[in-house]
Amino acid sequence: MLTLNIKPGHKSVKAYYEAISSLSELGVSHEGAVSPAFASLLRHCANQFNQTLIEKYPLKTSNHDHILFIDGALVDSFNLVHGFWEAKDTSDDLNKEIKKKFDSGYPKNNILFQAPNRIVIWQDGGKVFDEDISKPENLIEGLKVLFEYEAPAFEQWQKAVEEFKLKVQELATGLLQLIEKERQTNSLFIQAFNDLIQLCQETINPNISIQAVEEMLIQHLLTERIFRKVFNNPDFVERNVIAHEIEKVIAALTSQYFSRNDFLKPLDRFYVAIETTAATIDDFSQKQSFLNTVYEKFFQGFSVKVADTHGIVYTPQPIVKFIVKSVEHILQKEFGRSLSDKGVHIIDPFVGTGNFILWIMREIKRSRLPYKYASELHCNEVMLLPYYITSMNIEHEYYEVTGNYQPFEGICLVDTFDLSKVKQLSFFTKENTARVKRQQNTPIFVIVGNPPYNAGQVNENDNNKNRKYEEIDKRVSQTYARGSKATLLRKLNDPYVKAIRWASDRIGDEGIVAFVTNNSYIDGVTFDAMRKCLSQEFSEIHVLDLGGNVRENPKLSGTTHNVFGIQVGVSINFLIKKKKTDKPKQAKIYYSRLDEFWRKEQKYDFLNNKQHMGNIEWETIKPDAKYNWLNTGMRTDFESFIPLGTKESKTSKEINVEAIFKLFSLGVATNRDEWVYDFRKDKLEKKIEHLINNYNLEVFRFSSNTEPVTIDDFVNDDPSYIKWTDRLKISLQKRQTITFDSSKIRLSMYRPFCKQVLYFDHLLNQRRYRQPVIFPDTLAEAENHIIIVPSFGSKQVSFFMAQLIPDLNFFAGSTPIQCFPFYTYSKDGNNRQENITDWALAQFQDHYHDNSISKLDIFHYIYAVLYHPQYSEKYTANLKRELPRTPFAPDFWEFAKAGKQLAGLHVNYEGQTEYPLTWLENKDAKVNYRVDRMTLSKDKTQIIYNDFLTLAGIPPEVFEYRLGNRSALDWIIDQYQVSTDKRSGIVKDPNKLDDPQYIIRLIGKVVTVSLETVKIINSFPELQ
Ligand SMILES: C[S@@+](CC[C@H](N)C(=O)[O-])C[C@H]1O[C@@H](n2cnc3c(N)ncnc32)[C@H](O)[C@@H]1O
Repeated sequence: MLTLNIKPGHKSVKAYYEAISSLSELGVSHEGAVSPAFASLLRHCANQFNQTLIEKYPLKTSNHDHILFIDGALVDSFNLVHGFWEAKDTSDDLNKEIKKKFDSGYPKNNILFQAPNRIVIWQDGGKVFDEDISKPENLIEGLKVLFEYEAPAFEQWQKAVEEFKLKVQELATGLLQLIEKERQTNSLFIQAFNDLIQLCQETINPNISIQAVEEMLIQHLLTERIFRKVFNNPDFVERNVIAHEIEKVIAALTSQYFSRNDFLKPLDRFYVAIETTAATIDDFSQKQSFLNTVYEKFFQGFSVKVADTHGIVYTPQPIVKFIVKSVEHILQKEFGRSLSDKGVHIIDPFVGTGNFILWIMREIKRSRLPYKYASELHCNEVMLLPYYITSMNIEHEYYEVTGNYQPFEGICLVDTFDLSKVKQLSFFTKENTARVKRQQNTPIFVIVGNPPYNAGQVNENDNNKNRKYEEIDKRVSQTYARGSKATLLRKLNDPYVKAIRWASDRIGDEGIVAFVTNNSYIDGVTFDAMRKCLSQEFSEIHVLDLGGNVRENPKLSGTTHNVFGIQVGVSINFLIKKKKTDKPKQAKIYYSRLDEFWRKEQKYDFLNNKQHMGNIEWETIKPDAKYNWLNTGMRTDFESFIPLGTKESKTSKEINVEAIFKLFSLGVATNRDEWVYDFRKDKLEKKIEHLINNYNLEVFRFSSNTEPVTIDDFVNDDPSYIKWTDRLKISLQKRQTITFDSSKIRLSMYRPFCKQVLYFDHLLNQRRYRQPVIFPDTLAEAENHIIIVPSFGSKQVSFFMAQLIPDLNFFAGSTPIQCFPFYTYSKDGNNRQENITDWALAQFQDHYHDNSISKLDIFHYIYAVLYHPQYSEKYTANLKRELPRTPFAPDFWEFAKAGKQLAGLHVNYEGQTEYPLTWLENKDAKVNYRVDRMTLSKDKTQIIYNDFLTLAGIPPEVFEYRLGNRSALDWIIDQYQVSTDKRSGIVKDPNKLDDPQYIIRLIGKVVTVSLETVKIINSFPELQ
């Protein structure tokens, strides 16, 4: 059991007593005067129990005849109430007041009545605490009584729920085993199962896997039993139009057994506690919260890939409530309508457990609910388990409000994105199809919800890609991709982007879309055309940024600061569309953001306190010409500089385009670094041969396979056997084998000051982009140079020059790089061309009235400009959003000269003289030059190389030369360490057998490079 931990000296306790004493000084005595201090004390305690204090909590009386507003309720993340608080005046006769409250219907289970100097607590129908709290010890005692309380049946139940939660995964595995056993032997079931697969392929997802269908049965069996035994609702399966259909397969599955219970017997042990304690619990909301837990635990523990691709998380109540109340506010303010009004059709297209619809039902006037419920509330869900849960939750809520049981016909088991299809005729069952058709023909006015979001699978071995949808994908590319300045548009594949597209199309001429989603579209470079499109399609856009992007701000913790406990940022978005006649050409855009460092509970409190978007202070956004909404720090003079490259100039058929470089390219994206890079050529050869061999065996196995199976289901996805990419899977599908070719082993620039060998191959590298025409062969490596810059959208602004194929993540992290080569070639290495355009040469020669300027001089000039501190400091915001542009510095030659020196230092860093570091040798250790993991001393003057050797005397200025988020020296320490890739088990070892002191020398050289670079930077002339 959790115990409350609060000391009399805590600032919230002190603040309470200060509030009391200031009251008596002023002679004031009314409940409102000290209750804010008590509320903040309660909030502090509630945090320890993962509860939130909701003030003015509306509570239906047990006979439902009216609603009470209690001063506060302590609720958990499932909206379960754990206790109440009612504040009273000193002058009140407290006991009399309490009696009055109980008479009006106040609950008697765990309620604290607080007068400034006294606390009375009632639990389980009796008074358990009545103390003067002039002494803080008594106050704390009272709070402990309130917070540590658990109702007896509730306590048992909670325990059983906690236990069950841990078992959901085992239970699902048990069910899977039962199903798989029958799939081998039970001919009736084999037939029924195959029919079900076919039905699912035709009506749910053409690529649905066997595993997904098995999971569907597991979800059915799991919920069916819970509904039957925990909810005492045996009719659900009979009445539900989908469950009824699936039951046919289940009947076949259990046909060899005496009864269903007999079939499920092996799993009884998992259910015992939950089913027996359920009998003691009447409160539906407690059981409901249990179901919500099962929802998350099933997917997150057992069906993890589905949880990822479908975004299976429960939406926190404060967010749902805030959105629903905001929608009501917008309807009234902007359209003179209400959620209760006839004709306002509402849909949650990704309904999960039904949270949004439940809150909407609570918002709708009770007299209107029967009509709205029967005709104007809609929702969709693609997974069976949440579909069942929602159906039951919604039907129960209706029963609670009206006292009538009515099946909810507004729910469809359907993939919302399939609804854009005109062709699909059938959706699983006849009834469900009829519902889908009815929904398709309904004019929708309000769309609310929490769409799934993820940016596509990171690892092909996980087999959890986002599904492709012909129609909706086409709409996204016609609208949100068209005209985008970004080159990498992969992020537009995220389902939340499709959801916004779908909803925007679905509302028609007017309406509201209110979603909580990933917030990346607000300022991501990839989303420029999407922002443009949204501002053209809608009349008003309100974005409440809840922050929480851990990758962008590593000081944040997902679990602590993110409202969903995840790593990606979140926003609540209200998109309002008015009829054409009232619609401005460009939407009015409003933005507000919460403090990133607020804990998630503080964010929930904020939403609870604000209640709806009408109470938020909005900042008006004026997008710039490039559709940036958040353009803090962007400088407009940047626009007047010459671009190094643009998307248009790159794709133009013209050679002499208006940019400095004609061609530029991303670095190599291998998507299997651990397999195709290595420090040693012999090791790389072995790894590649092993990989190719395993892959070819897969081709052989696939060619001999006669079963109908998808590639994803077929492949061996053990990451120590092979690392898949979609490209490799396509080649497997074509039954293409691969032959090892040692000439494909090339030296590459993997990270700053870290060369590695790379197997440079179009199949074993996911994307090589234009690198084959930049470094077609080793001859090109000898003469070509590239300037490496962060790709736009990067978080870090750094530059480097190299003479080798660069890796896409050269600066590590999620910062892809682009490179601008001096030369380009054809793929066979012939046809060398200068890549700086004649147009650019003319611009420079004209500007400086100097015909002696050459393209190579410009190349060096640019490199120096990029390194100029005034440049990167002044234009950081611009450089994070677009590729560099160069101004004309007052003195061209000073810059060209400095750039040439920098180029020499960086390209030829291995050829620099070593800085004389002092060797401190450990007498007790054996002479040894092997590196395992180097570290820097605290004062940063020494590198502890290994047990034997420490290199001392590092000058402090070395650390002024930074590339990305590390100094040059930190890059060496970071890259040259022995490490093991967790998934594949592949070990990376930077030690060179034939040159054991290479790393020691490298350190000395990079110290020199850093010092010289800093010297050059410090002596730069003014840039502008
Ligand atoms: C983030 S959850 C919604 C949670 C819900 N608001 C709640 O509080 O319970 C998203 C839900 O959408 C469902 N979903 C995902 N993609 C879908 C699609 N294309 N069509 C319909 N439902 C989908 C998922 O199965 C999941 O239950």
